[in-house]
Order: sequence, then structure tokens, then C-alpha cells
Amino acid sequence: MQNLSMSIQVSNVNKFYGETQVLTDVSFDCPEGSVLVLLGPSGAGKSTLLRILNLLELASSGTLNINNTSFDFANTVPAKTGAALRTKVGMVFQQYHLWPHKTVLQNLIEAPVKVLKMDKPQAKKKAGEILEQLQLADKADAWPLQLSGGQQQRVAIARALMMSPEVLLFDEPTAALDPEITNQIVEIVKQLSNTGITQVIVTHEVDFAKKVASHVLYLENGNVVEFGDHTAFESPKTREFAQYLSH
Ligand SMILES: Nc1ncnc2c1ncn2[C@@H]1O[C@H](COP(=O)(O)OP(=O)(O)OP(=O)(O)O)[C@@H](O)[C@H]1O
Ligand SMILES: [Mg+2]
Repeated sequence: MQNLSMSIQVSNVNKFYGETQVLTDVSFDCPEGSVLVLLGPSGAGKSTLLRILNLLELASSGTLNINNTSFDFANTVPAKTGAALRTKVGMVFQQYHLWPHKTVLQNLIEAPVKVLKMDKPQAKKKAGEILEQLQLADKADAWPLQLSGGQQQRVAIARALMMSPEVLLFDEPTAALDPEITNQIVEIVKQLSNTGITQVIVTHEVDFAKKVASHVLYLENGNVVEFGDHTAFESPKTREFAQYLSH
């Protein structure tokens, strides 16, 4: 039965690429406003699972309930369903994916104006507020390549926030960032969590994970080895997760 206070429910998700199974019977629930961190060795299936959450990738079987919409992967999911979901379930990519030939402001207003049909002055006003919130107000007219990695990462987050997402997915948001910038990302994740946005974050950095996570899912070889709340970092239930944390 559907539990409406749950923002994300994944049940028995399997994913095959050809003959190779990369996710096996993955199930978990995560409440609204939580920050779920996905941990696991390289190749465990973290990015694949993240992309399934906004239908950038379709699972082979299983069900997904996200933002009060249910999908059964046994049925065909039309491409436009995915596009509609992604206006509410945003993704911040590791390589930022900013348009190099557009200024920061233009990067921010593009999707709201084109996809949501927001009028331009309103989009610019909203962009100004979000840039202010992320301490980027002076960068509105800069070109992406004039920005540091940390600034580009914050612009990528700002751009995702322009759509007023209910759920925000991050793939390795702190990769290639120095510790000070990583702490800025920690603060941003906490701020967003306070506004009620549910966040799912793939990371390799255990320290970062501990700082932001309300919940943690630890994967090995496409299997959920451990799922729990923040206390799992102090008292892991499985030997495998304990071992991963001790590295
Ligand atoms: N498009 C694809 N076609 C075939 N196999 C794929 C594809 N994408 C991913 N895989 C395989 O699925 C498995 C899981 O990949 P995934 O990218 O989800 O791992 P990950 O946990 O994110 O790893 P990393 O920490 O290195 O980013 C890997 O074995 C990978 O080779
Ligand atoms: Mg990955």
C-alpha cells in the first residue's frame, strides 16, 4: 500500500544491461525531506539506481513510487512521462553540464522559460533569488568557463532549483572539489533539506556522507547490503558496510 509521507519507494527493482544484472531486487523507502546517501564500491550500481529514480534509465522490473507517482517497470513507460517527472525530480550531474555559450543567468532561465513557459522577467527574478541564496549573485553575467569548479557546481545546483524540484538527485557532487568547497555543498544540502526537498546523493566520500545523510544505502554488486538511518554510520549492521567505512 502506498504511504504518502514517503517521498521515494523502490520495490524489487532489477536492472539488466544485456545479460549482465547490475541491480538485484533493490528495495527501500525514504521519507519526505530526507537526505539519502548511496555508497558502495565502483561499479556497485549507484549511478544506475540514481538515474532510474528520474527515469533517465528504465529498470528491467520492479516498481518506483516517487513524488506521488507510481511506475511499474513491467509496463512501458512513455518518454514524455519521464520528461514530465524530471521537471519535479531534478538531477545535478558530476560534470555540471552547463551550456558554455550561455551566461549563468541564461543557463538558469532556459528550462523554466522553455519547458515551464515561465515568463522571462519572472524567471530572471527567481534566478536572482536563487543565485543570492547560493552566494553567486555577482556571477549572473559570467560565462561558465570563467568560474571555478565549486562555483560551476553551485550554478548547476541553482539551475536545478529553478524548476522548484520536490526531489533532487546528485551524482558525486563533491568529486574534484577541495575540502572548503565541499563544506559549502554540505551547507547547501542542509539548507535544501530544511525546505523539505528530498535529496539522493551518490558519493565516494564517507566524511561528506556522514555530514549530510539522514539515511544511507550501501550497495555491493547491485545488491542492497545495508539500509538505515544516520546511526548506521556509528553502528553498521553488516560486516561489509563496517569494512567499507573503515577504509
Ligand atoms: N549503459 C551501460 N551499458 C552496459 N553496462 C553498463 C551501462 N552503464 C553501467 N553499466 C554497468 O553497470 C554496472 C554499474 O554501473 P554504475 O555506473 O551504476 O556504477 P557506480 O556504482 O555508479 O560506479 P562508480 O562509483 O564507478 O561511478 C557497472 O558494472 C557498469 O559497467
Ligand atoms: Mg557512478
